Amino acid sequence: MIGKILKKFDDKFLASEPRTGEIYAVAALFDKPDQIIHAAEKVSGAGYKKFDVLTPYPLHGMDDAMKLNQSRIGWIGLLGGISGTILSFLMIWWMVGINYPTIFGGKPAFNLPPSIPIMFEITVLLAALSLAGAMLTIFNKLPANANPLMDTAFIKRVTSDKFGIYIEAKDAKFNQDEIRALFEELGSKDISNIHYPVYDEGKTKNPLTDIKFMGNVAGVAFVTAIVTYFVLNVLLFLPPFNWMHHQPRVMPQTESKFFKDGYSMRKPVEGTVARGFMPYEFKGMPDSTIVITPNPLPVTQKSIDLGKKRYDTFCSPCHGFYGKGDSRLKGQFPVPPTLLSQKVMNWKDANIYHVITNGQNVMPSYDRSISRDDRWAIIHYMRVLQRSQNAPDSDVEGK
Ligand code: HEC
Repeated sequence: MIGKILKKFDDKFLASEPRTGEIYAVAALFDKPDQIIHAAEKVSGAGYKKFDVLTPYPLHGMDDAMKLNQSRIGWIGLLGGISGTILSFLMIWWMVGINYPTIFGGKPAFNLPPSIPIMFEITVLLAALSLAGAMLTIFNKLPANANPLMDTAFIKRVTSDKFGIYIEAKDAKFNQDEIRALFEELGSKDISNIHYPVYDEGKTKNPLTDIKFMGNVAGVAFVTAIVTYFVLNVLLFLPPFNWMHHQPRVMPQTESKFFKDGYSMRKPVEGTVARGFMPYEFKGMPDSTIVITPNPLPVTQKSIDLGKKRYDTFCSPCHGFYGKGDSRLKGQFPVPPTLLSQKVMNWKDANIYHVITNGQNVMPSYDRSISRDDRWAIIHYMRVLQRSQNAPDSDVEGK
């Protein structure tokens, strides 16, 4: 039934390709999986080497029946993987250790543990690439792009409902009559000779040396390049495809004909204030001029905790964790005075706020790095420090 349909289809659409007289292989079709396994055993047992079996689906036991050796592809994967490990190790070691050593946090420039994930990735990558490459080129013989079996009645059946075996004429033991007799004895009712197609002129040509084939490849490449160039560089600049290119806008760092001074980049209007930004009105002014405002932040456990957090981060490196002026900077920055002095204790909160915001002599301004509320919270915490470090005996319980 299927045979009839295929034949009809063939006769209608695929007038068989012309073939030469030179024989490529003798092929036989079988109906049942048991038969083909038996046939494979006999053929390999008879000493044929250049033969292959084609089945519509994988058959268990076929490897043994064909006496196939273990595939060599595993070794190629191993080789690719090992070279990936070694190459990536050398790459990282040379790049970060020799060519461009960069110190992060005092750690050595080259270090094995952080390199391992990269080495692992490259190992997997090279193993996978070498497997895929070897499979295509060595095992499936790319760039050969055709096989004499293609377009034969034999191949049509083994890709649908029959089990096929063929022995190549290149086999040292090849003898047409003997092989036909063997296949018949094994129970095949459909034995055929497969000839080389005419275009092969008797042998499968390497397409790399085939001028016609390579010409077609070059032609396709050329047309693709031209079309890509045309689309990206010409078409997209023509209406209506240019909607992304022509927008009413100015590019940064370019000349502008619109503005008198010729700059396309504009300064914000005088007095512009960023959203959410509250300028400090006493910025840069001496202490004497500041208006005394009370600390707007209520004294709560939360605000004191916040103040401690910010103080430990921003102030303690110079002023010490308790405000005693025991700087941790080992003389790399002038040691500040204690924050527990009578002078600072007498200061109003606004005065300290002014110093944090404005800086004082060598102490830098913190108005960019610490938000307003956080600055006020720091002052609450400073008051806690001052109280705790100057506690009178009467504060201690029981006195
Ligand atoms: C980089 C080091 C450094 C950091 C960080 C620093 N300060 Fe200062 N601070 C100083 C120095 C130095 C002085 C003394 C400046 C001077 O000569 O008037 C000072 C002075 C002060 C004074 C005035 C003390 C006085 O007796 O005049 C206050 C108050 C003060 N700092 C608070 C803070 C607070 C609060 C922080 C955290 C937001 C802070 N400082 C962060 C170095 C620092």
